[in-house]
Amino acid sequence: MNHQNKIFCSNPQAQFSSYREEILEAILKVCEKGTYILGEEVEGFESEFATYHNTKFCIGVGSGTDALTLTLKAFDIGAGDEVITVSHTALATSAAVLLAGATPVLIDIEENYYTLDPYKIEAAITSRTKAIIPVHLYGQPCDMDPILEIAKKNNLLVIEDCSQAHGATFKGRKVGTLGDAGCFSFYPTKNLGALGDAGGIITDNEHLQMRIKQIRQYGWNSKRISQEPGCVSRLDELQAAVLRVKLKHLDSNNAKRNSIAQEYEMKLNKSHLILPKIRLECEHAFHLYVVRSQKRELLKYDLAEIGIETGIHYAYPVHRHPGYCDKIRISQEGLERTEKIVQEILTLPIYPEFESDNIFKMNEVLHF
Ligand SMILES: Cc1ncc(COP(=O)(O)O)c(C=O)c1O
Repeated sequence: MNHQNKIFCSNPQAQFSSYREEILEAILKVCEKGTYILGEEVEGFESEFATYHNTKFCIGVGSGTDALTLTLKAFDIGAGDEVITVSHTALATSAAVLLAGATPVLIDIEENYYTLDPYKIEAAITSRTKAIIPVHLYGQPCDMDPILEIAKKNNLLVIEDCSQAHGATFKGRKVGTLGDAGCFSFYPTKNLGALGDAGGIITDNEHLQMRIKQIRQYGWNSKRISQEPGCVSRLDELQAAVLRVKLKHLDSNNAKRNSIAQEYEMKLNKSHLILPKIRLECEHAFHLYVVRSQKRELLKYDLAEIGIETGIHYAYPVHRHPGYCDKIRISQEGLERTEKIVQEILTLPIYPEFESDNIFKMNEVLHF
């Protein structure tokens, strides 16, 4: 087949092309100024991203993994502590918990939405539990009301992993603003993606933002006197400048993602596939369009044959990775749904520039 016509599962290159002039101008401005680390672009982005969420603070860091790790550390969560999250997520969620020194405790997901099942939380709580990390996976907001209620009752922090759900809302509130902090990745393929690694945290907690700002740079205070051990995890000026351009287009791009999801729904609702459901009273960000099929491998192969790249997010849940399986704890209620759906999930292409005519191309393969 002709690879020039290949349709990718996600396409950061297309995003760059859409805003080429604006992005190049922003990059040039940084280069001409000559400040590359923690300058006015980072400050500008932090302020604009906080305003977008109506939160008091945003702190730019080096990646989404660092956003989670630094938040946990700034909450003094570490050795001996447990953090409840899901196994069905990017490895990064559990990686961050381990990097902070704590133990991830993995619970199952909801059958219909593939996000953390709130009703599995309480059985996983021990005297060591300090926090819950709900992951708004694929762009779908978690069922936040019971999560927040259980957290409050048990005195647990809620750190939202929003890396796949920039701009999604739960009952009218943007994800990341419901818990104690919201952590974001700006990895290039994300709904808000930089041209390299980047991440950020939003919060209303002034002490938390001060601690994260310290930890992201050797533990320095404003006078560069170290108050605690830290690391180097700074959002850089070039990435911040790119993110400022793209933030302006986030809502319209999410709307495009939603209309592509609607096209899929219209064209595929008679097929054998299980299509994504949108939680009631929520706006989905459709970072990924994930369907389920018992014939997943065959579909993947047949779509590749006609030039359509698909993905599997994620083929291995965290507890199946050799590097992680003996470092996590699985809730006694088990991970039955996680184990089942990882055999069936298939990610179809979705990104703002994706032309829905391509769904026609896919029709024959997906309808057999
Ligand atoms: C759900 C989730 N959490 C965390 C991360 C980590 O982000 P990063 O790759 O920027 O470290 C990602 C990105 O892959 C993600 O999808």
